[in-house]
Amino acid sequence: MGPCSRVLFAAGYLQTPGSSRNEGCLSFQTMTEKPAGNDVSAASLMQPEARTLREQFQKLYGEEARVFRAPGRVNLIGEHTDYNEGFVMPVAMDLYTWVAVAARKDSRVHVYSQNLRERAEMDLQDLKLRVQRHWSAYVLGVAASLRMSGAEIGGANLLVEGRVPMGAGLSSSASVEVATGYALLESSGLSRSPVDLAKICQRAENEFAGARCGIMDQMIACCGRANYALILDCRTLGFRLLPLFADAQFVVCNSMVKHDHATGEYNARRADCETATRILAEQMPGVRALRDVSLGDLERYAKLLPEVVYRRSRHVISENARVEDARGALERGDPESLGRLMSESHRSLQEDYEVSSTELDLLVGIARGIAGVYGSRMTGGGFGGCTISLVGSGAVEEFQSAVAQGYERATGRKPDIYIVRASDGVREALE
Ligand code: GLA
Repeated sequence: MGPCSRVLFAAGYLQTPGSSRNEGCLSFQTMTEKPAGNDVSAASLMQPEARTLREQFQKLYGEEARVFRAPGRVNLIGEHTDYNEGFVMPVAMDLYTWVAVAARKDSRVHVYSQNLRERAEMDLQDLKLRVQRHWSAYVLGVAASLRMSGAEIGGANLLVEGRVPMGAGLSSSASVEVATGYALLESSGLSRSPVDLAKICQRAENEFAGARCGIMDQMIACCGRANYALILDCRTLGFRLLPLFADAQFVVCNSMVKHDHATGEYNARRADCETATRILAEQMPGVRALRDVSLGDLERYAKLLPEVVYRRSRHVISENARVEDARGALERGDPESLGRLMSESHRSLQEDYEVSSTELDLLVGIARGIAGVYGSRMTGGGFGGCTISLVGSGAVEEFQSAVAQGYERATGRKPDIYIVRASDGVREALE
């Protein structure tokens, strides 16, 4: 059995001093104690976008709306481990999808995308949605998935505006799903626990958008906390909050290469892991997922696995161990160790899991050459998207300009760069 199976997690909800627990619904409050790291007050961020969207909704549908927002995310470490029932360490970012909603009297859901200037609609009586490669699958799929879960939501008018860059590996899809799901529940006077909402949204993406994603992105969009990372056990869905560093920042660099083509490759990686699990479970009857396998077990049965499947497994198993070590590094306030783990994670994703790209490798290489950088890796599903680097606070400015120049010189593309401000999960934007 793998070492990670021994880690214990609090199930489901968070119980920390200053937080309030509200049985069965999503309205918990931000912590009152002041932790290390950036301070992001959700309230101060909500106002302007929410007000504008409400006005646009009024023009479009001629009625008042309530507004909700759910964050994108960046994963510090623990890549392609979620669908292997392993461990991940995401942070909710202060980039959001905003959804305005008002209930309708009939059973129709109408949605207008502010980004694409397109509309779509469905009737909740007819849940025969097919898998479709269309933006509306992330909205209407959630409505269908809510109904399939037994939530008797009513019809609604929706206006959606995404501010999480699309195809950048920052989880714009999950932020659309979670903001939509929460808005539809609230407009129907219903509630679900954050974990249930995350599962409903994951099911929508699996069944209606055709991506066999894990649960990480939906969980962090529901359960993220300002100023904290989460360590999430993707088997039990228990999680713990981890403090960020006081004197080092996480910085995200967007390669500006979209990972649109990734769905097929992603599903193929998942299939490789399932093959490994099937073969290893024949030898070790307790194995349900790669999370249950140690590196020693893998070596013992290596000859039974196709070479590619062996390397995929080695990535997942070693990455799970790195997440556990990363937890220790954050808790000790030890950026050197976390930086080292991030760099090892990148190498494993590049060579064993083969989900990196020339541009991501270039960004990581540039980052590592800059003084004050502890470590750097690709983040998210891969094949494009972003890197995340851990940078000493005093070196962040220099880092930004050196990466921007170096990357543009080599590729002709200007990278977008974000300093990570850990934010709250889905919330209503209140006046
Ligand atoms: C995508 C998926 C997640 C996860 C990551 C890789 O973001 O949506 O579930 O598998 O890739 O870690």
